Amino acid sequence: MTLRLDRVSYQVETSAGAVEVLHDVDLELAEGSISAIVGPNGSGKSTLARLASGLLRGSSGSVALVDGSGVQTSRDVRPGLDVGLVFQNPDNQLVATTVEDDIAFGLENLCLPHDEMVQRVDDALDLLGLRNFCDYPPHRLSGGQKQKVAIAGVLVMKPAFLVLDEATSLLDPSNRRDVMDTVLQLNRELGIGVLMVTHLLEEVMVASRVGVLADGRMVGWDTPQSVFSQQSVVEQGGLVLPLSGRASLLMQGRWPEFPLCLTAEEFTRAACQLN
Ligand SMILES: Nc1ncnc2c1ncn2[C@@H]1O[C@H](COP(=O)(O)OP(=O)(O)OP(=O)(O)O)[C@@H](O)[C@H]1O
Ligand SMILES: [Mg+2]
Repeated sequence: MTLRLDRVSYQVETSAGAVEVLHDVDLELAEGSISAIVGPNGSGKSTLARLASGLLRGSSGSVALVDGSGVQTSRDVRPGLDVGLVFQNPDNQLVATTVEDDIAFGLENLCLPHDEMVQRVDDALDLLGLRNFCDYPPHRLSGGQKQKVAIAGVLVMKPAFLVLDEATSLLDPSNRRDVMDTVLQLNRELGIGVLMVTHLLEEVMVASRVGVLADGRMVGWDTPQSVFSQQSVVEQGGLVLPLSGRASLLMQGRWPEFPLCLTAEEFTRAACQLN
């Protein structure tokens, strides 16, 4: 199943009249893929995350799940069920008095058999390493643990896609790593497609496709390597190349064929091949 946004625009009413926050955005997220969205503050990333999750409806264009290759069927995105959204601040998403109840919260409306509900919450507790905290009040947890509870609450709904809107940006490096590793594991083991809205280069680098938003327009959609190679996209997206990338550009001054390396390992390999 592919999550497809087709020429989606989104308008808001302001005191100065209607303003278009997103303009004709196309996005195609393949089943089980990892993608990232980057762009300056106010470029429309969170709006796009909400549209892709079915929480907002575009002023024009379509957001749909598309199935099949020959005869395609498509349907609207059901928020939570098809696409789960995790926000930047876990405090805004935790609602119940214990971790276990919090994780089960979204399930309450699905009218599932009781055993199935218990099973799903149990699986999520194990998957995210939250078993020992199941009776804890969520507000007593650390930021990283809270974010894991928020992810667990999204996962029990068994969505095909997980959208993370700067979900690790308030965490310290170790908790960030932990949450990211968990997300990558969910992608590998359960085949959940991931869309990360992020400012963090390390999160961009694990994506197979990166979308660059600038002023509500998608100015780039390609592999990280290709996006970072396009000077105008880098500038419009306010992107900062990693150190190895900046060093590669300097090397290209002397050796024009030197590749754009985005990791220290790539850079070292390329440098060793110079003669
Ligand atoms: N309901 C609304 N009413 C008025 N303006 C809005 C509304 N929703 C979004 N905007 C405007 O749309 C633009 C994009 O907002 P959005 O939150 O999507 O940006 P963002 O890329 O997520 O920014 P950040 O990096 O700061 O999180 C901003 O200029 C914002 O003020
Ligand atoms: Mg945002």
